[in-house]
Amino acid sequence: MRKQIVAANWKMNGSSELVRQLVPAVRDSVASLDNAVEVVIMPPSLFASEAKGELAGSPVMLGVQNVARWQSGAYTGELSAAMAADIGCHYALVGHSERRQLFGETDDIAAEKVLRVLESGLAVMLCVGETLEEREAGDAEAVVCRQVEIALSGLDSAAADRVVVAYEPVWAIGTGRTATAEDAQAMHRTLRDRLSDMGLPANEMSLLYGGSVKPDNAGALFAQPDIDGGLIGGASLKADDFIAICQAAV
Ligand code: G3H
Repeated sequence: MRKQIVAANWKMNGSSELVRQLVPAVRDSVASLDNAVEVVIMPPSLFASEAKGELAGSPVMLGVQNVARWQSGAYTGELSAAMAADIGCHYALVGHSERRQLFGETDDIAAEKVLRVLESGLAVMLCVGETLEEREAGDAEAVVCRQVEIALSGLDSAAADRVVVAYEPVWAIGTGRTATAEDAQAMHRTLRDRLSDMGLPANEMSLLYGGSVKPDNAGALFAQPDIDGGLIGGASLKADDFIAICQAAV
């Protein structure tokens, strides 16, 4: 039985005030969910310690949205995976399409970050996904397979239980346009097959879908056999929506 995961990526949104409102609301609601979903909150890193305090004693996990390629040193403005581990984070996102598109992160950089995250004892949530142009050119599968192959090229299969892959078609992120459940399932199957070809225990690895997941489409997406939960952006900023999505995990 694979772990079902629903993760909140707040992106560069929120405030101390939102942490004090939203995190306890999620924490308390998750305690009464009737499924075994693992819930993760990834606020901006400045608020991570405050969020951690609100999550004391709760199974809800904390994550960061990005880490540096280095663990310490003269890298002004950067935050390391080791630091995220130090304050009690469980997860780090790597390779989000906004990092790739806006900050020039390549597959090779993602590969370095994956190793930093894993050597820090954290779990990695690796994001992959094609642009609209790549999909319309018929290259979607090749793109996501290349992304996962390079980013996980240094992975020891013994650490695969700390690796989650999130398929997020770029054209579906923040657009209100979601992949159909069937298309998303097809790409997750392709990804799982590729992970297996790479010698990884693909059937035990959780694969998430991200891109305009909302309470009204989460159920159909999460019901697909190879979709093990979701990475949620906009809808994670509203407690009721996010909890409804967590409830939809099967
Ligand atoms: O990390 C989350 C994804 O980028 C999805 O964002 O739910 O706002 O489309 P969204």
